[in-house]
Amino acid sequence: MTSTPLRLAVIIGSVREGRFGPVVAEWFAGQARGHGAFEVDLIDLADYQLPHALPAVSPLMDPNPVRPGRGEELAQRLSDADAFVIVTPDINRSFPASVKTAIDWHFTQWSRKTVGFVGYSGRSGGLLAIEGLRAVFNELHAHTLREYVSFPRFYQLFGSDGQLLEPAEHEAAATEMLDQLQWWATALTGARTEAVPA
Ligand SMILES: Cc1cc2nc3c(=O)[nH]c(=O)nc-3n(C[C@H](O)[C@H](O)[C@H](O)COP(=O)(O)O)c2cc1C
Repeated sequence: MTSTPLRLAVIIGSVREGRFGPVVAEWFAGQARGHGAFEVDLIDLADYQLPHALPAVSPLMDPNPVRPGRGEELAQRLSDADAFVIVTPDINRSFPASVKTAIDWHFTQWSRKTVGFVGYSGRSGGLLAIEGLRAVFNELHAHTLREYVSFPRFYQLFGSDGQLLEPAEHEAAATEMLDQLQWWATALTGARTEAVPA
């Protein structure tokens, strides 16, 4: 455990009505709080709903574009985070558009930080979304963790109370990922103060 808790943003990626995402995210946020190294900020993209149309000057060129609605609040919460975990379903073998939009409205917020993933869906358990997100975050100078947590056929795994029916395997996967997240977030938080190559 570090002396100063690392700030971990857990992001609920699905924004659709009737989504299951918050159940998975709440479960993972509980695991992260119990781990001891992290101060957890649970971010629900449904609270922000940034437009899919990006601004004329992208966040790549202008780190402070005018973000509509409560977009500035989201940008600040992402800036404050030392590390991220994206909670994502597979939608047509990829991540939902809401996740890509939230990513694309930001640039510096992801840079030189580490990202972990919790996936859930039908047969593929979120793994197709996760693998796609690795390529996206690579472009943003973010490091993605090898470890992940996956819930194939999630509807068979959670009870109506939102708890896992047989938690041991997924709790172990979460601990393994959180241990890695702690290591990478600690290393990158120290390194971010150093000058970066132009
Ligand atoms: C349009 C659509 C496409 C989907 N594509 C996949 C898929 O490719 N693989 C899979 O395992 N599940 C797929 N699913 C199942 C979703 O992952 C599942 O419905 C999940 O609950 C969606 O997350 P949410 O409830 O938090 O929105 C798809 C669902 C929808 C509605």
